[in-house]
Amino acid sequence: MNKYDVIIVGTGISGLFAALHLGKEKNILIITKSSMDLGDSFLAQGGICVQLDDNDYDSFMEDTLRSGHYENKIDAVDLMIRSSREVIGDLINFKVEFDQNDSGFSYTKEGAHSKARILHFKDSTGYEISSNLSNKVKELKNVTILEKSTLIDILSKDNRCYGVVVKKENNELENFYSQSTILATGGIGGLYQRSTNYPHLTGDALAIALKHNIKVKDMDYVQIHPTSLYTDKAGRAFLISESVRGEGGVLIDKNGNRFTDELQPRDVVTKAIYEQMQKDQMPYVKLCMAGYIDMDIAKRFPGIYDHCLEQGYDITKESIPVVPAQHYFMGGIEVDLKSKTSMDNLYAVGETSCNGVHGRNRLASNSLLESLVFSKIAAHDIMKNSHEVDHPIFPQPDYLKYELMMEKYRQMVVDKIRKE
Ligand code: SIN
Repeated sequence: MNKYDVIIVGTGISGLFAALHLGKEKNILIITKSSMDLGDSFLAQGGICVQLDDNDYDSFMEDTLRSGHYENKIDAVDLMIRSSREVIGDLINFKVEFDQNDSGFSYTKEGAHSKARILHFKDSTGYEISSNLSNKVKELKNVTILEKSTLIDILSKDNRCYGVVVKKENNELENFYSQSTILATGGIGGLYQRSTNYPHLTGDALAIALKHNIKVKDMDYVQIHPTSLYTDKAGRAFLISESVRGEGGVLIDKNGNRFTDELQPRDVVTKAIYEQMQKDQMPYVKLCMAGYIDMDIAKRFPGIYDHCLEQGYDITKESIPVVPAQHYFMGGIEVDLKSKTSMDNLYAVGETSCNGVHGRNRLASNSLLESLVFSKIAAHDIMKNSHEVDHPIFPQPDYLKYELMMEKYRQMVVDKIRKE
C-alpha cells in the first residue's frame, strides 16, 4: 500500500510532534534517512526556553529579537512565546522530565538571555524529549515507519504536492502518495567539515524545493556555535553546551586571561573566539569550568563530563580546548505561520523550514521550542483542512536520472548558502 493521508519526512522532534498531534484516524507514513533515533534533536544539550510568567513576555521577545539582529518575524516570535507554556505542558503530559530544585523547575541561562528561562534535563534535554516522543510515536497503530529511507523528490503537479519519491533501504525507488506532506528533514550540517550535526543531514529538502520553485528564505543565515570540543580527529564535532557558560564557565586565551563576555549572542562570541585564535596563533581557545561553576559539574553535565573524560580531559579539574563549529540553519523553506510552504498541501517544520522566528541568529534553546510549536500548528492545520483528492499517477522513478538531476540542485543549495 503506498497511499497515505499524511507523509512526514524526518524523525526529529518536529516530525514526531506533528505525528502525535494528527488524529488517530489518519493513516500516516514516516520516513527517515537513517535510523529513527539518529536525528539532531536527540543531540540537543542546553534545553528548551519557556515564557516564565506574564511578566517574562517582553524580555523573552527582546532577547529573541536582539539575538536575531531584529530581523525576526515578530508574529512568529509572538506565537512561539505565547505557545511555549502549552507545549511544555504537552511534554509533561507525555512524561518528559525536566530537572527540578527545591522551588520547582530548575531553569538555566545561556547567551543573550536576560534571565534564566531554559528548562533542561541535565545536559541531555534533546535526548529526554526526543526518545520519549519517539517511543510514543512507535506505539501509534496508525503510523508506519520506514527507516533508512531517503527522500529523493516530491510528487507535484500544478504547484500541488501529491507525495514523495523515496529511496528505500534496498535501494529501490518508490512513489508514495499522500493528501498532505510534512518536510521535517532537519539541518545542513552534513555539508560542513566541522559541524555538531549528524553528517547525513545534508539539506535534501532544500534541493527539492529549488527544483520545484518552492520559496526558500535566508539561505545564508547559518549559525556557528562558539564551543565544540577541539580535536584533530575527523567526525562530528562534540558540542560543549552554552549552558556551561550560562552556569559560570569562562573562556580564556593561551595566557589564561578572559577575552570576552561569554554570554553575548552566539554569533558575537563566535567572532570573539575566532579573533582570539588568530591573535594567539592557536587552533582553539580554552573553556574553564572548575572554580567557576558553583555546582557538581559532573552531575549537572554528565554527558559532557563523560565525553571529555574519554578524550582525556577531566572538566572538574582542568580547562578544555574549544573551537566554533557549524550548528544550526536559520534559513530554509519559507513557510507561513501555519507552516505551509508556497506549494499546496506541502508543509515544512523544524530546522528545514524558515518562518522567520530566529532572524539572523537564533537565541539559544529556541530551536526545540520552535520545532514543537510550529509542528503542532501544522498538524492542526492538516486536521482542519486536508481532504481526499484524486491524484495523478506519476511514472515509476529512475534512480540514475534522479541522481544526475538532483546533484545540480544540491550544488545550488551549497552555492546559495555560501553566496547569499
Ligand atoms: C547548546 O546547548 O549550546 C545548544 C542549544 C541550542 O542550540 O540552542
